Amino acid sequence: MNSNKELQVGGLTFVPFITEDMISARVAELAAEIEKEYEGSNPLYVVILNGSFMFASDFLRQLSGAVDTQFVRLASYNNTESTGKVRQIIGLADTEIEGREIVVIEDIVDTGTTMHYLVPDLFNKGAESVELCSLLFKPDKLQFTDATPKYAGFVIPNKFVLGYGLDYNGAGRNLKEIYKLKS
Ligand code: IMP
Ligand code: MG
Repeated sequence: MNSNKELQVGGLTFVPFITEDMISARVAELAAEIEKEYEGSNPLYVVILNGSFMFASDFLRQLSGAVDTQFVRLASYNNTESTGKVRQIIGLADTEIEGREIVVIEDIVDTGTTMHYLVPDLFNKGAESVELCSLLFKPDKLQFTDATPKYAGFVIPNKFVLGYGLDYNGAGRNLKEIYKLKS
């Protein structure tokens, strides 16, 4: 496959943005950094579906030992714009969170709406601490400062991106590299 190629998805044109090698190198760095930070403790990794499934899969495999993971499914997006409202489709029980140090694994922080909703919910469920690890971060679109990821893989401009778990209306999650909307 030619990685310099444009890609048509749902009538939009995307161009290559972050390569597979750049992603895997950065994911390994993030895993090493977080593993070091939590040395001697046993954090619970909360994976936000659907978008972060591929990132989480690669990230979690970089961690040594048997770690705890849980999955949440949240949705706030329609087409290429955030709706501003978060729906919880698969949730967490209080018992899973009580007293735990939580590391949230997210694909992208855009407006921050999703994390602004989730972080207080985790504290309400008794979390001892909550830190965010997001593969991508678009600071120009951030509306909630409490959604700023402590760990961010790539800080990117305000452009819609696709691939490596991220979709456009359900398409493109399988792509090994990250594409951006062509200007
Ligand atoms: P936020 O709540 O506005 O921060 O957006 C968070 C969610 O919207 C992310 O977890 C993604 O699933 C989705 N999202 C945000 N930006 C993009 C994008 O550029 N491409 C694909 N999905 C996105
Ligand atoms: Mg997401």
